[in-house]
Amino acid sequence: MSRIPADPVLYEIYVRSFADSNADGIGDLLGIASKLDYLAELGVDGIWLTPIFESPQFDFGYDVSDYLAVFAEYGTLKDFDFLVAQAHERGIAVILDMILGHTSKAHPWYRDHPDMYIWADQVPNNWVSAFGGSAWSRDEAAGRYYYHRYYPEQPNLNWANPQVRRAMHDVIRFWADRGVDGFRLDALDGIAVDPLLRDEPAADLSLLAGRDQDSWADYWKLEHIHTTNQPQVIDELRALVKAFPDSSFVVEADLPTEALRAYTDVTDSSFAFDFLRAPLDGKVLADVIAGAGTHGNLAWALSNHDQPRLVSRWGRDLAGVAAVLLLTLPGWSFIYQGDEIGMVDGKGGPVAYDRSGRDAVRHPMQWDAAGGFSAGVPWLPYTDPARCNAAAQRGVPGSMLELYKDLISLRRELSGPVEVLTSRSDSLTYRRGAHVIDINLGDESRPAADPGAPVILATGAVTEDGRLPARSATVSLRS
Ligand code: GLC
Ligand code: CA
Repeated sequence: MSRIPADPVLYEIYVRSFADSNADGIGDLLGIASKLDYLAELGVDGIWLTPIFESPQFDFGYDVSDYLAVFAEYGTLKDFDFLVAQAHERGIAVILDMILGHTSKAHPWYRDHPDMYIWADQVPNNWVSAFGGSAWSRDEAAGRYYYHRYYPEQPNLNWANPQVRRAMHDVIRFWADRGVDGFRLDALDGIAVDPLLRDEPAADLSLLAGRDQDSWADYWKLEHIHTTNQPQVIDELRALVKAFPDSSFVVEADLPTEALRAYTDVTDSSFAFDFLRAPLDGKVLADVIAGAGTHGNLAWALSNHDQPRLVSRWGRDLAGVAAVLLLTLPGWSFIYQGDEIGMVDGKGGPVAYDRSGRDAVRHPMQWDAAGGFSAGVPWLPYTDPARCNAAAQRGVPGSMLELYKDLISLRRELSGPVEVLTSRSDSLTYRRGAHVIDINLGDESRPAADPGAPVILATGAVTEDGRLPARSATVSLRS
């Protein structure tokens, strides 16, 4: 039986930046264990840990060199077992980030089993890496080119070779046997490629919708019909679910929502990237959330370790409104660490660690006015702990932290599908069963959708004459 309930709230922990137990400036597993009471009080059902495996850290753990060992700076297997036991004691499930599509170049498989990777004698096509440039790099020793969807340090595995499936199932079994409740399947849509290695066509730029803004801008110029969403991806997902019926799986497949049905039909949930990238427009949001029922059980996130933080993206008031939206949708809702206290993007540190510019969204969690993440020097500096920290908001009505707590406990009372009642570019109102969620994205107050209805939660007080203030949201019971 899965420990993850229906419509769960999951909390994404960027392990390196959450809590440091030994003052080396780097977050670790025992640090996470020390913050479980905070997470239990917040009310989350589970935590998703970004990759904890042994890795040279070129992509901060998304380049694994040993799937069966914990990265030494994060701790040991014993620490991991302790963390899982402590989490379970509090009713918190543990989800690991599982990278099936590629390993580190330093993984022994790359050296000892080259046929587990994808090779060509010459650069065979126009495929582009997500981080820019050709997706093919030359291995000098082999005198051949290998395919990498991400950094050159991350060669792609060749799922056409059944040995890869066996190896990966063994990895998942190892962690499932240790009590892990589920897995986020990193970049799953890209695990298989066209066996003929054909060129990809140019993308229709008008369909980019927000993608041209992100660190993958070059990548989106091609339509990835030969490197993503191949029929084998779904076959492998099905095989995985069959082999591990007691584990939950949430898929990361950066595809339009319509394409996710194939994934949600097979497994628990799949991230809705159209939601993650949606502009602040009630009509667009209405379309995306209306897809919830028709496209299966979706996973909702409005920020993560790859994307700008909510407050930086939408501003403080609207970040609260965004939280209402995020936590009142049916499906899996994900909070990115620090968003629950309204952290903003930082400026990065003196050294640029991530070559594609994602340091800004990975600054340490701000636990108290002095920072509180580490007793040493954090690997990335704090952003603004005196202004924004968890301790100062705890128990303070009107704080972002208390809003999140209220929303998470209210979520247990919500049921039924989303029914959009009205949507305009600056406004969105929808219903879930007996509850009405009324959102004003505009800069002016407007009449509340149902002025007589008892308001159970509000990010801005509804006026006596029944008006919903600018940039605010309410949840009420239908009158
Ligand atoms: C996913 C991760 C991202 C990582 C990439 C390669 O998109 O979220 O952080 O760089 O996969 O594994
Ligand atoms: Ca540490």
